[in-house]
Amino acid sequence: MSDSKKMQFSRRGFLKGAGLTAAGTLLEQAQALTAEVKSATPSALGPGAVAVRMHVNGQVHATTAEPRDTLATTLRDKLGLTGTKVVCDRGACSACTVWVDDKPQLACMTLTLDVGDKKVTTIEGLSEGASLHPVQAAFVKHDAMQCGFCTPGMVMSCAALMKRNAHPTRPEVAHAISGNLCRCGTYPRIFDAMDDLAKNGSVKSAGLVMPRAMQEV
Ligand code: FES
Ligand code: FES
Repeated sequence: MSDSKKMQFSRRGFLKGAGLTAAGTLLEQAQALTAEVKSATPSALGPGAVAVRMHVNGQVHATTAEPRDTLATTLRDKLGLTGTKVVCDRGACSACTVWVDDKPQLACMTLTLDVGDKKVTTIEGLSEGASLHPVQAAFVKHDAMQCGFCTPGMVMSCAALMKRNAHPTRPEVAHAISGNLCRCGTYPRIFDAMDDLAKNGSVKSAGLVMPRAMQEV
């Protein structure tokens, strides 16, 4: 074999070897990536019901939920907390507003299995026994409801606002309830109720009775 042929042969061999090494490295990287993704992916739950423990209104509830179950359906159908209303069931009206870790959240747009250990507060958790929450008392005093379907969500949004701002202005109240739709048009009375609270700090709740619309149905 001539020197030039030897040279060609060894160059081809070298390129072949380099190609194989590169392919091997790529394969190793792909395998490492697959292992990494596998370890980071949580194990799948469902499709049937799985056991869950939920922290709702200061109590721990053991129940079951399917991956498709929303927090709203679990609260209402499994835990019997029917104060949370489901009206549109698609995130358009805020009737289903509850607090998750003290922040207002739409229960119809939250999957139960995503709640985990977070603290859920519903309209039933606002009052203390027969003693109404100040926002509830103000709503009752000012008759700020008609059919009541929007009322629990409206109260939860207003109560969340009062927690961070005890003296909200009308624009601040309007902003806080901007997602809450009241088809009965009770907005003027809701603003009156919130004005009363903002001005006086509290509304006397003695003698005020919680309407059924705020709890059951
Ligand atoms: S019922 Fe949840 S946003 Fe309307
Ligand atoms: S009171 Fe009927 S929707 Fe608000």
